Amino acid sequence: MRIIVQNSKCQGHARCAAQAPDIFKLDEDGYILSGDIEVAEGQELLASRGARSCPERALELGRA
Ligand code: F3S
Repeated sequence: MRIIVQNSKCQGHARCAAQAPDIFKLDEDGYILSGDIEVAEGQELLASRGARSCPERALELGRA
């Protein structure tokens, strides 16, 4: 599974990282790092929870 990161939508709410800090990495200003995220096997549930927690819908679930 892959998370498609739309950096232009990120407002630094950091809810994604609160759900799954090992999956969603933030920069020093609290914005999500750019680049899509490859989710390791077994981490899908956590990753989708984190993605859905973003109020700006900056994190989209994609297929591997
Ligand atoms: Fe940004 Fe949404 Fe996370 S606004 S820091 S991608 S919760």
